[in-house]
Amino acid sequence: MSTEKQLPSTRTTELDSICLRAEVIPVVTIERLEDAIPLGRALVEGGLAVIELTLRTDCALEALKRMNEALPRACVGAGTVLTPAQYRQAEQAGADFVVTPGATDTLYRYGVSSPVPMLPGVATVSELMAGWQYGYRRFKFFPAEASGGVAALKSFAAPIPEARFCPTGGITMDNAESYLALPNVMCVGGSWITPKKLIDAEDWDGIRELARQVADRFHH
Ligand code: 3PG
Repeated sequence: MSTEKQLPSTRTTELDSICLRAEVIPVVTIERLEDAIPLGRALVEGGLAVIELTLRTDCALEALKRMNEALPRACVGAGTVLTPAQYRQAEQAGADFVVTPGATDTLYRYGVSSPVPMLPGVATVSELMAGWQYGYRRFKFFPAEASGGVAALKSFAAPIPEARFCPTGGITMDNAESYLALPNVMCVGGSWITPKKLIDAEDWDGIRELARQVADRFHH
């Protein structure tokens, strides 16, 4: 794999500056557009400024746009991007980065020429190798717990030690540390910081407090 170092690497430096600023990235799903700004503000004020906003709801793109406009300190990416068409919509909405749960050749190809960096999702060494061939060096490891967790990431490091990951899927306050301790992990992501119950109750203080606990515990 090291012979491919001369390939254009797909915005590794940009992704590093995003991911290393984060350590923990809240994965957020917005059901009501009016929740976007107060929720984003609670996370930023709590100390978690890098946010993955999933494109799983009708209002997600507009929510992303509003969050980015209203919260200049936030770095908001689009998550659950499944197709180049969604990738393009995320670019137009002002996404700072794009995250995909898995990766296809069309997405890998689209991402190489996009101005917005992509963190492609992989769960196996073969998927990782496919991304590597396109120049990708930074990946989301998803679904982390279901795909072998910490043990799998340790195994990935043997054949491909240069790859770095943001594990997501089943990460909690209790197991995040074991991932962050791995040399090939840049940050972790998860929805546990924004529980649906707190969002539905518009409990922004509760979310700010949760974010603060997470930031205090995991940020250097
Ligand atoms: C994602 O898209 O990254 C996941 O939905 C987040 O996984 P989690 O809900 O297990 O944290």
